[in-house]
Amino acid sequence: MRTDLSGRLALVTGASSGLGRHFAATLAAAGVHVLLAARRLDRLETDVAALAATGARAGAVELDVTDAASVTRAFDRIETAWGVPDIVVNNAGVAVSRPALGQDEAAWDQVVDTNLKGAWLVATEAARRLVAAKRGGSVVNVASILGERVGKAVAPYCASKAGLLHLTKALALEWAEHGIRVNALAPGYIATDLNRDFLASEAGQRLMARVPQRRFGRPEDLDGPLLLLVSDAGAYMTGSVIAVDGGHLVSSL
Ligand code: NAI
Repeated sequence: MRTDLSGRLALVTGASSGLGRHFAATLAAAGVHVLLAARRLDRLETDVAALAATGARAGAVELDVTDAASVTRAFDRIETAWGVPDIVVNNAGVAVSRPALGQDEAAWDQVVDTNLKGAWLVATEAARRLVAAKRGGSVVNVASILGERVGKAVAPYCASKAGLLHLTKALALEWAEHGIRVNALAPGYIATDLNRDFLASEAGQRLMARVPQRRFGRPEDLDGPLLLLVSDAGAYMTGSVIAVDGGHLVSSL
């Protein structure tokens, strides 16, 4: 298995909590130099120090994925200090849970700008620099099973994640000639700040009963698929979507 990741530089967006924090730790443990990005630098300090204490190489970057100027500024800083990341994990994401008729324009913009435009801005900024440096890389877009099927009260979220899956394929097609692979992870439900209250509720427990494996996911369930996509073990994978959902997408109709 070609899983050696030493010498690689990764950027993980939305790394101050939940899955992003976990992805950063997983990559760091695999020998990757990891840059944790979030809107507020102070939220990253403890995590970067904790990673460094384990001997890992880690840094913090201020980045608002919805703001093109912030993305360019962050990449300028990263390139000067550490080089161009050849692993990008587009993890930053938000959900607004409300019936469709209660979702206003601001909610739509917040969700679609973060989950879809944000991934586009970060991926293109990274790819532009990798192409200029004549280097390949791997982009992993963190989508969702709600990009393939739908759930109630999260219509903009579903639309943004479906868009992200299609963006993944469109970018994979264009960037294959540059050696840049673009793939998506589509997690099922995993308890984080995004959904913890809902998953613990009665409705959440009813949802769990419909997952064929009868449990929600754990962040570590994503480790294998993530490492596959970012390493040469996945060298022939691009434009792929990996569902990690305990079978939720194939639950019985
Ligand atoms: P979370 O709320 O803990 O993490 C989301 C992170 O994105 C936060 O750190 C937040 O500060 C950051 N973020 C939001 N807007 C940002 C912006 N404009 N710029 C930079 N960072 C920003 O939630 P979680 O669950 O860890 O979500 C991570 C990703 O996984 C999201 O894309 C989410 O849609 C996706 N996902 C989560 C699932 C779950 O069950 N937890 C299931 C499927 C997908």
